[in-house]
Amino acid sequence: MFNFTFQLPTLAIFGQGQIKKISQHIPKNARILVTTGGGSVKKNGVFSQVEAALADFEWIEFSGIEPNPTYETLMNAVELVKKENIDFILAVGGGSVLDGSKFIASAALFNGAPWDILAKHAPITETIPVATVMTLPATGSEMNGYAVISRKETGDKLSFASELVRPVFAVLDPTTTYSLPERQTANGVVDAFVHTFEQYMTYPVNAKIQDRFAEGVFQTLIEEGPKALQNPADYDVRANIMWSATMALNNILSVGVPQDWASHAIGHELTALYGLDHAQTLAIVVPSLMMHQKIHKRAKIIQFAQRVWQFNGENADEAVDYAIQRTREFFEQMGVKTRFRDYSIDDSQFSVILDKLEQHQGYNLGEHKNLDRQAVKEILYAAL
Ligand code: NZQ
Ligand code: ZN
Repeated sequence: MFNFTFQLPTLAIFGQGQIKKISQHIPKNARILVTTGGGSVKKNGVFSQVEAALADFEWIEFSGIEPNPTYETLMNAVELVKKENIDFILAVGGGSVLDGSKFIASAALFNGAPWDILAKHAPITETIPVATVMTLPATGSEMNGYAVISRKETGDKLSFASELVRPVFAVLDPTTTYSLPERQTANGVVDAFVHTFEQYMTYPVNAKIQDRFAEGVFQTLIEEGPKALQNPADYDVRANIMWSATMALNNILSVGVPQDWASHAIGHELTALYGLDHAQTLAIVVPSLMMHQKIHKRAKIIQFAQRVWQFNGENADEAVDYAIQRTREFFEQMGVKTRFRDYSIDDSQFSVILDKLEQHQGYNLGEHKNLDRQAVKEILYAAL
C-alpha cells in the first residue's frame, strides 16, 4: 500500500426527511445563493422542502445550470455572487449543479482569469463554502473536491480539484431520486461503477481494505442497479445506490492505491465533441480499454472476475475475457449502450478527439502512463 494522508470533512446527512436539517448547518447570518438546474427540483418537491427549511434565512436563487455545466452560464452566477455579497452556496440538484457551484464558489474569489482554474490548474486559495442537497447518485461530487466544467466557445471539458470545494454538508435523501428518468438512473449507476473501476482496475499493491470496499461497491451496484429501473420507488434500492455513488468517489477507495482515470479523460473529450452523456462515454470506452490493457491489468482483472463476477474456472485467460464480457453486459443491461455505432458515431472525427486529448492531457494516461496517441486510437477503433 502507498503512503497517504486522508481526511473526509463533509458532513453526510442521509435518509428520508432530512432536508429540513439544513437549517442547523448553515450560519444564521449567511447570505445564501441556492443554485438549481433546469427545473427537476421544482417538479419533484425538493425545492419546496428547501424553501421551507430556509424560511428564516436570507437567500436568492440562480437557476438554469445545465447538464455538463458551462463556463458561460456559471460566469453569470459569479457576477450575481459579487453583486449580492453571497457568502454561502447551496447546490440543489445533480452533479452538474454541484460542480457548477464549486466553480462559482472558486471563481468569485479568484484573483485572475477564472478560466485558468481549469485550463492552467491555477491554485485556489479561497472559496465560498458550498453545501448540497444531492438528487442524482452518480458523480460523488457531494463528498469530493472535484468539478468538471465545459466551455461552449472552445469545445473544452476540463476538471479542477481542491480540498476547498469539498461540500460542507451533503443531504442524501433517497426519496429525491424516485423522480429520476430511467436514463439518469442508469447513467448514475454506470458512472459510480466506473469511478470504482478507475481506482481498482490497475495493479495489486496489497491494499486489502480498498480492494474489498471497491468490490462491495461493484457488487451493490450490480445487484441494485437493475432493480431501480424496474421499481423506481423502492426506498432500500435507492438508498443503497445513493450511498454506493458517494462511496465510489469520496477518496475512501483511492487512498494508498494506484489509479487510472484514462476512461474519464477520453470520455470527457467524447462528451465535448459529440454531446454524449458522461456515463455513455464511459460505457463505450471501458470495455475497449479493458481489452487493450488486459496484460497490464491482468492480476486485477482476474481478481475482479473471481470476486465480483463469481468466476470459478481454472483458466486465467478465460477469467479475463469473462470479466470484460460481464462488464459490457452490465452496462447494456442498465440500458447504456457500449459501442459508438449505437450512437450513430463513426471514426471521421477521431483525429479531433486525439488532438484535444493531447492538448488537455499530454498523453500521460493510465496507471503506467503508457497510453499514448496510438493506444488511445486503438481503443477508440475497437469501440466502433
Ligand atoms: O437540470 P435538472 O432539471 O435539475 O435535471 C437534471 C438533468 O437534466 C436531471 N435530474 C437530476 N436530479 C433529478 C433529475 N431529474 C429528475 N429527478 C431528479 N431527482 O438529470 C439530468 C442530469 O443531471 P446532471 O447533474 O447533469 O447529471 P450527473 O449528476 O450525472 O452529473 C454529470 C456531470 O458531472 C460530471 C460529469 O462530467 C458531468 O458534467 N462529473 C463530475 C464528477 C465530480 N464532480 O467528481 C465526477 C464524474 O466523473 C463526472 O465527470
Ligand atoms: Zn464519472
